[in-house]
Amino acid sequence: MAVSGPDTLVIVRDVDSLRRRIAAWRRDDLKVALVPTMGALHKGHLALVQRGLQLCDRVVATIFVNPKQFGPNEDFGAYPRQESEDFQLLAAAGVSLLFAPDVAAMYPPGFATSVRVAGLSEELDGAHRPGHFDGVATVVTKLLLQACPDAALFGEKDYQQLAIIKRLQTDLNIPVDIVGVPTMRDADGLALSSRNAYLTADERALAPALHKAIVAAAASIAEGGDIAAALTTAKAAIAAAGFGRIDYVEARHADTLAPLQNATEPGRVLAAAHLGRARLIDNVAIQR
Ligand code: PAF
Repeated sequence: MAVSGPDTLVIVRDVDSLRRRIAAWRRDDLKVALVPTMGALHKGHLALVQRGLQLCDRVVATIFVNPKQFGPNEDFGAYPRQESEDFQLLAAAGVSLLFAPDVAAMYPPGFATSVRVAGLSEELDGAHRPGHFDGVATVVTKLLLQACPDAALFGEKDYQQLAIIKRLQTDLNIPVDIVGVPTMRDADGLALSSRNAYLTADERALAPALHKAIVAAAASIAEGGDIAAALTTAKAAIAAAGFGRIDYVEARHADTLAPLQNATEPGRVLAAAHLGRARLIDNVAIQR
């Protein structure tokens, strides 16, 4: 079998083919990075690829819209799917291999295992999306074991997801470096997300208010301001901007995600709020 170079993107849909390709690279002593995605790619995903190429010789991307991480009333059916556009973007970015299995290949009949990171998965987004992080943890564990990469890259935009993946990697002794990559934003501050496609033009214009509000809260906490007051002010600003339901605006410890006690701890302000059909999440560091 020919070993595909970094410039030729090959797509595989089953685990045996994925492993055969990666095994050939391993025989040549090449390091492999994994970039798991659900497709509908944007510059945030391409930043993960770029970081992967800095750390390793070959990047494998995955596209799988994982049904197990969507609740019954969530957007699994509507989630944007655009594999041929994604393929072009990944090829141009220097990805060598795309793993794009269908649901039956990932979850064949009889599939009965679930990975659950207790505690962390029930907080914040987990409280509003029951079972979501079990679905994420299960599919990410599978992808890590299927590809056995040297490094796997995830965006900091999904900060809680990143914390959960780091936890499961440690707890299950999976031999991989989990690498977080800073959030990519539009010029007005809106975090890039595949779900931004749900925003109307009017909603898109007011969406950056979420980022602005949490940046202001983080600055106030960093300057020694009262944490609860800063979060209340942020919620009021998000509501005043025209958002609908606010699921949470919280200040948490950057590593454990426990409620932040004071600004001397490494902290993060995290928020989730609804805007039209979209549920936007974002987070920023509290920098003293
Ligand atoms: O962040 C995502 O796109 C997904 O949650 C992930 C990590 C690919 C798992 O399906």
